[in-house]
Amino acid sequence: MKQQLIRGAIHHYPHATADYAADLQSFTDGAMLIESGKIIALGEYNELRGQYPAAALTDYRDYLIIPGLIDTHLHFPQTEIIAKYGEQLLTWLDNFTFPAEGQFADPALSARMADFFLNECLKNGTTTGLVYSSVHKTSTEALFEAASARNMLTVAGKVCMDRHCPDWLQDTPASAQRDSAELIERYHGKGRNYYALTPRFAPTSSSAQMAALGELAQQYDDVFIQTHLSENHDEIAWVKTLYPDCEDYLAVYEKYHMVRPRAVYGHCIHLSDSEWQRMAASGAVAAFCPTSNLFLGSGLFEMGKAEQFNVPVTLATDVGGGTSFNLLRTLGEAYKICQLRQFKLSALQGFYMLTQGAAHSLGLSDKIGNFNVGSDADFVVLNPRFDPLTTLRVKNDSSCEDALFALTMLGDDRATVATWVAGQPQYIQQEHADALA
Ligand code: GUN
Ligand code: ZN
Repeated sequence: MKQQLIRGAIHHYPHATADYAADLQSFTDGAMLIESGKIIALGEYNELRGQYPAAALTDYRDYLIIPGLIDTHLHFPQTEIIAKYGEQLLTWLDNFTFPAEGQFADPALSARMADFFLNECLKNGTTTGLVYSSVHKTSTEALFEAASARNMLTVAGKVCMDRHCPDWLQDTPASAQRDSAELIERYHGKGRNYYALTPRFAPTSSSAQMAALGELAQQYDDVFIQTHLSENHDEIAWVKTLYPDCEDYLAVYEKYHMVRPRAVYGHCIHLSDSEWQRMAASGAVAAFCPTSNLFLGSGLFEMGKAEQFNVPVTLATDVGGGTSFNLLRTLGEAYKICQLRQFKLSALQGFYMLTQGAAHSLGLSDKIGNFNVGSDADFVVLNPRFDPLTTLRVKNDSSCEDALFALTMLGDDRATVATWVAGQPQYIQQEHADALA
């Protein structure tokens, strides 16, 4: 297969680290050699051009090239209800979320929305999502099919819920177990698809349903698990009444074998020290969803606690509780929450969390999150000077850290020049497409 050489200012983290300044690898005039969707060499442009004179060149010399961004918690059937006014979590679910998710009983609508959703991700530089579908098995299939058509590495799961939501959105313990198992067999590890067991959260799953999904968690020990934890005070009080035998919220998930590596807990805002400590011991991951936490008035995530207890933290949009598909913008809101918590979140730490850090926490760093030889060629090309204000603010010789920080505050999808997935451009901004034509 033909080799491709991609030129630009390349930045990535080759391995897991907590030293974000020292371990960033940068090539100001760099190049990446791609063959059959994978990275086969990385280095200075001049050197690689000399070694591979026949490779087809795509020249992004004026732009930053970073690994495709990883959104570790978002809901594809909530795309249409982004930015709905006035509610906090539990009434937001009743008033907006459940009616919207009900529409996904229709396979044709699910297919249309899966396309829309993934295109929105790509336009914002996101190449991998951990995605909740609706309760319908068919909507999960629609998402995997749309992701496969774009060759995007995607982790997704059918929401399971058998109580405290409208009848027409409920499954049962048996159907949730059967449908989830069929989806695992059909999709998990097939192509670039991976499955996540997805009990929506403890309030909407009976003990019988949690037990049924816990059996699958034990049977399939490499599947992902995704759910919500400790987002809102009313939710936490409710869980106490629903699971009186469990000492706290995390204990519900522990009881059903769901707290382990590759389990991603959305929000984690109001955890006790004991819960932080047990999260750390388990290898589970906390997904920090800043725009959602502010929008729904849920609270201010404590990055300092996560670091104190050594719990891996990833970033996530939580669309449609979250208000943007853009993960750099999301990092900007995370920075502001950390300011209120007296924690200095650097642009480089944030960049790590969106790429190698997320991949490492999820056990996917042999494939995504970095530009190591052998990794899949998923990357984003960013123009940090995409309008008059950013052109004024970001200088030609600005550091990667400064340019990225400016993008977290001022950026949006106008900064995305192109998004490549497994060595193919899956999104090209219109003016660049025109220039290439
Ligand atoms: N808790 C249970 N379901 C949801 C959801 O869809 N979004 C958010 N933000 N929290 C939840
Ligand atoms: Zn969520």
